[in-house]
Amino acid sequence: MSVRFENVTYEYPGEEKSVVAVKNVSLEIADGSFVCVCGENGSGKSTLAKLMNGLLTPSSGIVTVDGETTSTESESALFAIRSKVGMVFQNPDNQMIASIIEDEIAFGPENLGVPREEIGERIAYALSAVGMEEHRHHTPYKLSGGQKQRIAIAAVLAMRPKILVLDESTAMLDPKGRAEVLAVAEELNAQGITVVLITHFMEEAVRADRVVVMSEGAVVMDGTPEEIFRDREKINRYHLELPVPDYLAAELRKEGFPIPEKIFGEEELAEAICRSL
Ligand SMILES: Nc1ncnc2c1ncn2[C@@H]1O[C@H](COP(=O)(O)OP(=O)(O)O)[C@@H](O)[C@H]1O
Ligand SMILES: [Mg+2]
Repeated sequence: MSVRFENVTYEYPGEEKSVVAVKNVSLEIADGSFVCVCGENGSGKSTLAKLMNGLLTPSSGIVTVDGETTSTESESALFAIRSKVGMVFQNPDNQMIASIIEDEIAFGPENLGVPREEIGERIAYALSAVGMEEHRHHTPYKLSGGQKQRIAIAAVLAMRPKILVLDESTAMLDPKGRAEVLAVAEELNAQGITVVLITHFMEEAVRADRVVVMSEGAVVMDGTPEEIFRDREKINRYHLELPVPDYLAAELRKEGFPIPEKIFGEEELAEAICRSL
């Protein structure tokens, strides 16, 4: 199960002039991987995400999910693709429809024609996967932003997707909410779900297997977080910021401190500095 882009271009038609949002992108998202897509506003990240599950289809080139093209006339094929590639967006409030959380989670499987008994199991699975079991019978309105996003993830999980695409799903959250959502994403990836995390916070890329940087619709960098973080000149060129601990680590290495290549956050950096003193 993978998503493949082959020479994909997407152009939004406009009355005066059209916008080419994705330019000749070739990319394969490997099964089970954790891929982070970074890039400044308007670089084409959301368009790329929508191309992954057939919400948009390429103007030219081809996107395949599990070997099936998204450019299909078949409603059922498209439906299958959309349930394999689950999407969670930025604003949790725009994603809630039901007034009780379990109904919110049931919505997707009901549409897939999942039998009643199984829907109950799927609700239980999805809520436990995001650590929200105790909220099953509550209303979503009083939840924090992080909790709402976890419910939005659960609603997608109830459709048993192979791939979870989070399009800036942490952007509107406070640090606690961001950490909650990232922890859920990491845990799901550990359980075998492929995760595509779209973000403009580069520190969220630290734990990814792979970082893809977009600029003006094109993929301009593609590598492991260490490879990407090493090229500071390029990162700056694409208006991204190195996470603070990685920036400090790079400066210290330059000064001759033996700081390991992989640094996960402030605490690890502090430990590495202490060890080197
Ligand atoms: N519905 C749309 N109609 C026309 N242009 C759009 C539309 N959505 C996005 N764009 C344009 O496409 C480009 C890429 O946008 P988008 O994929 O949303 O980037 P990002 O998610 O990285 O901010 C931008 O120039 C944006 O203005
Ligand atoms: Mg976007």
